[in-house]
Amino acid sequence: MRVLVTGGSGYIGSCAARHLAAAGHEVVILDNLSTGHKELAQDFELVVGNIADRKLVDGLLARVDAVMHFAASAYVGESVVNPRKYFANNVESGLALLDAVLASKVRTFVFSSTCAVYGVPRALPMTEELAREPINPYGASKLFFERVLEAYAVAHGLRYAALRYFNAAGAHESGEIGEMHEPETHLIPLAIRAALGTGPELKVFGDDFETPDGTCIRDYIHVSDLAEAHVKAVEYLSAGGDPVALNLGTGKGSSIREVIRWTEEVSGRKLPHEVVGRRAGDPPALYASAAKAERVLGWKARRDLEKILKSALEWELKKGAVMR
Ligand SMILES: NC(=O)c1ccc[n+]([C@@H]2O[C@H](COP(=O)([O-])OP(=O)(O)OC[C@H]3O[C@@H](n4cnc5c(N)ncnc54)[C@H](O)[C@@H]3O)[C@@H](O)[C@H]2O)c1
Repeated sequence: MRVLVTGGSGYIGSCAARHLAAAGHEVVILDNLSTGHKELAQDFELVVGNIADRKLVDGLLARVDAVMHFAASAYVGESVVNPRKYFANNVESGLALLDAVLASKVRTFVFSSTCAVYGVPRALPMTEELAREPINPYGASKLFFERVLEAYAVAHGLRYAALRYFNAAGAHESGEIGEMHEPETHLIPLAIRAALGTGPELKVFGDDFETPDGTCIRDYIHVSDLAEAHVKAVEYLSAGGDPVALNLGTGKGSSIREVIRWTEEVSGRKLPHEVVGRRAGDPPALYASAAKAERVLGWKARRDLEKILKSALEWELKKGAVMR
């Protein structure tokens, strides 16, 4: 299959591109490099441009069988202070991309959604049937796009998979690509930098939650596990599978203290950290029920927190050389 990967110069899209190629598929990447890096797309055809550039996208769609849509603005905190950016890029530009798709022969579409569409979950583990009640503009922008996909499936026969990722982490096993967000807001790279002394001491936002050790629990999923789910999803859809929304998580939550302990274990260093106040709107625990993805795609996460931290540490040590 030939797959257009939007946002393929970013963290998760670049990993998915590699897994697609390893599974025998052809990849074309479209990325405006707003937060992506051309080095992460090395070995692939990279078209630098915007998903809303209709002429450019029409030309690319004529060459492919499916779209994987990773391109988006993806910082929860930034979405609160600058919501216009999130609705413009994730909704308006996303709709322009979908217009182009509907005008083409392509009907297979895999979308990067997020567990942020659920907001504060009413039950754990989180199943796909929970109410979708996002609590920030980022989550709202992703939920809006999911609703558009649902309507276009009914009206236009679009076959989509909305993949709701939990916390993506770790790096591709090759050590050639990994997380490169600027600024970095994700716990695992920040924890590793604190341990290595290349970043500030880690801030732990609250240790008085109703969790076993008082710190927040999240479901960390290896980026290669996510990538493998994408390959299975695009193959499932192109074999005629029904439109579907799936959680992509491990089904197991890890607390911040557990992440700190494992970071110290794999790095062999003490991790300087300080407990500060809670952040507004941080739910105590978020973890997926991964049962539906296993049932529909025959997929489940294979890599644990130790593997995540080892690969993230290796990438952190190597990335200076790769990104020269
Ligand atoms: N990282 C996570 O934990 C996580 C969790 C849930 C969902 N997601 C979603 O996964 C996707 C990828 O996230 P990521 O962490 O790899 O982020 P990223 O910032 O590394 O990747 C996004 C890529 O999209 C590109 N892009 C953005 N807007 C574009 C546009 N208008 N036209 C063309 N290219 C554009 C950027 O340059 C970047 O390369 C996003 O849709 C994000 O919302 C990420």
